[in-house]
Amino acid sequence: MKTATFRILRFNPETDKKPYFEDFNIPINKGMTILESLIYIKENIDPTLTFRAFCRSGICGSCAVNVNGKPHLACKTQVEKTMEEFASSLIIIEPLSSFKVIKDLVVDTEGKKETIKRFNLWLEEKRPPEDSEFLVKPDEVKQYEKETNCILCLACCSVCEALKENVPFSGPFAFVRTYRFLADSREKEETRKKRLEIALNASVWSCLQCQKCVAACPKNIAPADNIQKIRKAIIKSGKKESPGAKKLSHYLNWIYATGQINRLFLPADVYDNKKAVKEFIKMCKEHGIEIWEIPHLPDGFLALRDLIVRALIEEGDVEAIDFKKIRKIDKKIEALLKGEEK
Ligand code: FES
Repeated sequence: MKTATFRILRFNPETDKKPYFEDFNIPINKGMTILESLIYIKENIDPTLTFRAFCRSGICGSCAVNVNGKPHLACKTQVEKTMEEFASSLIIIEPLSSFKVIKDLVVDTEGKKETIKRFNLWLEEKRPPEDSEFLVKPDEVKQYEKETNCILCLACCSVCEALKENVPFSGPFAFVRTYRFLADSREKEETRKKRLEIALNASVWSCLQCQKCVAACPKNIAPADNIQKIRKAIIKSGKKESPGAKKLSHYLNWIYATGQINRLFLPADVYDNKKAVKEFIKMCKEHGIEIWEIPHLPDGFLALRDLIVRALIEEGDVEAIDFKKIRKIDKKIEALLKGEEK
């Protein structure tokens, strides 16, 4: 019979000073899951091993643990496949990262209840027309079908770089659910507005778009994409004053104007900090450092660029393009190249 070694991170805050690994060698069968292995260990070797599980079917989201360094649902992850993937019979099991450990593999997930309340994560339905009901067409359902499958396992939060950096960010799952309700035509208009406001206050712009949540989600949801869609809805609703929205418009305008991103003017465009720009230019000049953000555009570039931008505007992509700002950028570059920056 095949065997596997489970190296499990143990910790009992009442008795242990710090976490430690403990190895368990167990027999494995075809199709056996990580959860079944943990249950085997608990029932046959160490009854004190502590972990969470409920549905055993990938529905309740309670069994998420790190398997060989990455979050997985223990009930949906097969031991043999993991051994094949890592070409090893040693499987390392740890609690989800970024959460306080209560005991062994059980982490403190109380925060998610508060997040659900704070984000108003339920549908607030409009009144259907008299004597009728809302019909939701299949095409509409497709827009949020994946997001409906979120099981609140918190795998996304465990890998979130913004949360690790302690930026004021509420974690990806809250935005998955927010998007799910925003995309639902049954939602009241005032609730939709409230949702955007909540997302803005919950630092939707703090997401770093590292995409780790996308790789971690056991339900193949893409929280980072949902966050982008919420940001777009916020900008469409006219809320363009947050630093995140300004940063986006700064990058877009500079890319359309010069074909490249620009960090030099970021503090001025986003935080109105013109002093930082001047100081940076001065410092670079003093040290003879070339500022690549000031592009030396080839002859004819601007005329060709204008043609392309106008064609894009005609095609209707005007929302993202602000021709006046592009002209301002042209003037800024001209002044900088002549050494006339103010
Ligand atoms: S036990 Fe419910 S998702 Fe694994």
